[in-house]
Amino acid sequence: MKITVVGAGAVGATTADNIVRRELAEEVVLVDIKEGLSEGKALDMFQTATLLEFDTKITGSTNDYSKTAGSDVVVITSGIPRKPGMTREELIGTNAGIVKSVVDNALKYSPDAIFVIVSNPMDTMTYLALKESGLPKNRIIGMGGILDSSRFKTYLSLAIGCQPNDLHATVIGGHGDTTMIPLTRLATYNGVPVSQFLSADQLKQVAADTMVGGATLTKLIGTSAWYAPGASSALLVESIVRDQKRVFPCCVYLDGEYGQNDICLGVPVVIGRTGWERIIDYKLNPEEQDTFSKSADAVRNMNNVLAT
Ligand code: NAI
Repeated sequence: MKITVVGAGAVGATTADNIVRRELAEEVVLVDIKEGLSEGKALDMFQTATLLEFDTKITGSTNDYSKTAGSDVVVITSGIPRKPGMTREELIGTNAGIVKSVVDNALKYSPDAIFVIVSNPMDTMTYLALKESGLPKNRIIGMGGILDSSRFKTYLSLAIGCQPNDLHATVIGGHGDTTMIPLTRLATYNGVPVSQFLSADQLKQVAADTMVGGATLTKLIGTSAWYAPGASSALLVESIVRDQKRVFPCCVYLDGEYGQNDICLGVPVVIGRTGWERIIDYKLNPEEQDTFSKSADAVRNMNNVLAT
């Protein structure tokens, strides 16, 4: 198994670090446009092999995609992150050009790869990657919902006073402060609805905190987060390369599912060796379905910017 991670910045390097520690491939290639950055970070990471006892080889490459040839999975994290006060949507102009060129270059050398899109605004970048590559829809997966769900579980655990790992909770819809949908009705603590532990007001607060979870970190750190985004990306890659068939909320192309067409949006999907394998129908109630449609409208407006 060979995995390429494009972008050796905070998120890309953390993703690669998680991938090598978990030995998800024999070989990992880290690519960045900045001279020497990916080589340096890859060498630093490889020097942890004997300390952390992993056998995965990791190398870096300054924009030479021939080194990525034959990758099974390509993770795209290249692009600018947001600064305090910025929305993910404001990144579109710069990141669209970057994602487009990266998809073209990577595809030349890895025509059979599954692409994981992380760069923001992720829903629009996933749609762009699908259209640009012309690949079958199952091979393009946007990562956002796994991260948002982990933030949802964190805030739920803090409110309830329990371990995040005892919770099951999912965020669907867009990966934006106003477009994501924490599904509070379906969230459970050891199989029991969380509404038995929290009041409606508390649940509302948890959902609100989740939606601005990324912005809260950006304000604290001064740039966007990387530990949870990197771990989330690696978890998605793991389900692909180990064919685990795990169900994760991911941004995928909708063809009538959840009432939407010609858009990439976060829904629960089964992730395996061939990419996303099927969409799970959560049977949203009318209110949730309405919120989902509004989220789709906002993402579609952003996708339209690509055409201008
Ligand atoms: P960063 O600035 O630390 O790293 C980005 C890297 O991309 C830089 O090293 C830069 O040199 C490189 N790059 C730029 N153009 C390139 C090109 N054409 N080819 C190869 N490399 C190129 O940014 P960070 O924090 O790693 O974030 C990366 C992206 O991921 C941002 O767009 C950010 O908004 C997004 N993000 C997405 C999340 C999600 O859940 N989908 C979560 C967190 C961040």
